[in-house]
Amino acid sequence: MTDLTIQRENQLNQLQSMVSTDMVEWALQKTYDFAKLMSYYRCAMMEIETKFNVLNEEFKLRFDRQPINSIKARLKSPISIHQKLADRGYPMSVESIESNLNDIAGIRVICSFTDDVYMMAEALLKQDDITLIEKKDYIKSPKKNGYRSLHLIVAVPIFLQSEKRIMKAEIQLRTIAMDSWASLEHQLRYKKDVVFDEKMQWELRYCADLSAQLDERMDALRVKVSSEQRDEREIIRENISALRGTPMPGLEEEGGTNGGKDTADD
Ligand code: GTP
Ligand code: MG
Repeated sequence: MTDLTIQRENQLNQLQSMVSTDMVEWALQKTYDFAKLMSYYRCAMMEIETKFNVLNEEFKLRFDRQPINSIKARLKSPISIHQKLADRGYPMSVESIESNLNDIAGIRVICSFTDDVYMMAEALLKQDDITLIEKKDYIKSPKKNGYRSLHLIVAVPIFLQSEKRIMKAEIQLRTIAMDSWASLEHQLRYKKDVVFDEKMQWELRYCADLSAQLDERMDALRVKVSSEQRDEREIIRENISALRGTPMPGLEEEGGTNGGKDTADD
């Protein structure tokens, strides 16, 4: 080999190693940025999940009943993120993920009754650190296939060591009946080799309508049960009043006024 060839080969090796070092650094930086963003979304999911758990706990204490049956939280997978950006023609970048996609953090709240779905949504949206970005009520207006759920896109702050970040999350609230229909429909739909003909679509919609009827009937039962529970409280109140020989007060009043007086007399 001549001196010139050796020199050229050295230069080429040098160039290759420079490019690859830069590329590795670039890739490492991107991986870190992506991991950091995903960890922010995980924090947002934790914040929202905690908010719902607190509401459920409060209800358990006040009404001896839990409106939330279960909560599922999931972070969108890198493959699904890539797919969604590509499908919608958005740039493939960490910044684009944050500004264009609202459902990286997903929280699914499964409630016992339809009324609970609305009550939980309202209780969350009333909180002063939650901002509603979008609401889709597929319970009042189900999708053509029969899908029902209440969808909220919200913004929630997360507090880091030296900064506050506002993150977006998608919340799906539904009853147990809505959830079981949706998960079965999802399983059927994802069998890619099966084509849904009109009869099958009609059947799916029919099952959704049956599940809506189930919710309505269970809601009616719940209203009946809670009014009977109120009657029981009335009876207890009457009995206490009769024992004390006083006009019938509310249970709360007893604790506040009579309760105080009794202690003072003792
Ligand atoms: P995508 O987020 O891309 O789905 O579009 P979008 O924001 O217009 O959709 P939408 O808010 O209607 O639905 C978002 C999510 O709700 C989906 O990712 C599913 O988890 C759920 N969902 C919506 N429609 C259906 C449905 O017909 N069946 C089932 N099983 N889930 C659904
Ligand atoms: Mg969406």
